[in-house]
Amino acid sequence: MTGAIKNSPEALKGEDWAGEMGAKWLANLERFEGMIAPIGEALLKQADFKPGERVLDIGCGGGGTTIAIAKSVAPEGDVLGVDISPDLTTASTKRAADDGVSNIRFMCADAANVQLADAPYDRLFSRFGSMFFSEPHEAFANLASLLRPGARIDLAVWAAPRDNLWMMEMMTIVRRFVEVPPAIPRAPGPFAFEDLDYLREVMSSGGFSKPKIVSYEGLQPVGGVNASPQEAASFVLTSMAAGRLLDEQGPAVRTAAELELIELFKTHHVEGQGVMMQGKAWLVSAKLQ
Ligand SMILES: C[S@@+](CC[C@H](N)C(=O)[O-])C[C@H]1O[C@@H](n2cnc3c(N)ncnc32)[C@H](O)[C@@H]1O
Repeated sequence: MTGAIKNSPEALKGEDWAGEMGAKWLANLERFEGMIAPIGEALLKQADFKPGERVLDIGCGGGGTTIAIAKSVAPEGDVLGVDISPDLTTASTKRAADDGVSNIRFMCADAANVQLADAPYDRLFSRFGSMFFSEPHEAFANLASLLRPGARIDLAVWAAPRDNLWMMEMMTIVRRFVEVPPAIPRAPGPFAFEDLDYLREVMSSGGFSKPKIVSYEGLQPVGGVNASPQEAASFVLTSMAAGRLLDEQGPAVRTAAELELIELFKTHHVEGQGVMMQGKAWLVSAKLQ
């Protein structure tokens, strides 16, 4: 394919988590959760929840980490999962009930301004759910208002795309077919907090000063545990923003891009594990002053 095709403003609009993106996350929940499971395990280990604690899980998605937290803080402790997608909170409520977990609730709300009658909470947790606020300073101040003084916050946020080869190599292929404008630094989105100075500044404006930040680096199964290269390519095209950009170019472009993605993923495929590609995230912990 010669010459990338320009994409439309429609394809560039922000991620609509309350609508389309939330529904896509739910439709591909097992694959998404499988892909970020190693980072969730590291963050949960770092957070080291104790029985009796009252926890908020912000941007809780399909509730995988929320359920794990509920089990750690039982029997006296409890957890509230907050997410802006009604599809995800409805599904999470059913998932927890099916799992027999009772010290858990889910609420559909914007974490940037939600008010909770049963605040303050002891802890706040979020795996990749804190980077999407359009006004992050105000949002973190609101999160702080839901916590008791001295409460601890534990977050996972993505490091820069250049350190996330799963994203870099995938986007290198997508860019051959469609023009993708350069990312705007600090704009709401998965990489909003790649710049740690900015993250520190946002957190400290909310009262979480001097966060401890450690890097997590490891292989992640793109498209979920044990996905084939074909399944990983299909996952990218149906569930990620890159797929939406390619869809706008029509079926021929989409098919050509899919074939290149499959070839890429073949080079990273490990039998019995899936398409294993390098990822990097920041694991952040801080206390509310
Ligand atoms: C990348 S997903 C992570 C989901 C979940 N934390 C996990 O690790 O499985 C980001 C989540 O944040 C939610 N989200 C985005 N903006 C939000 C907001 N302003 N308030 C609450 N949830 C939000 C999305 O709906 C989505 O479920």
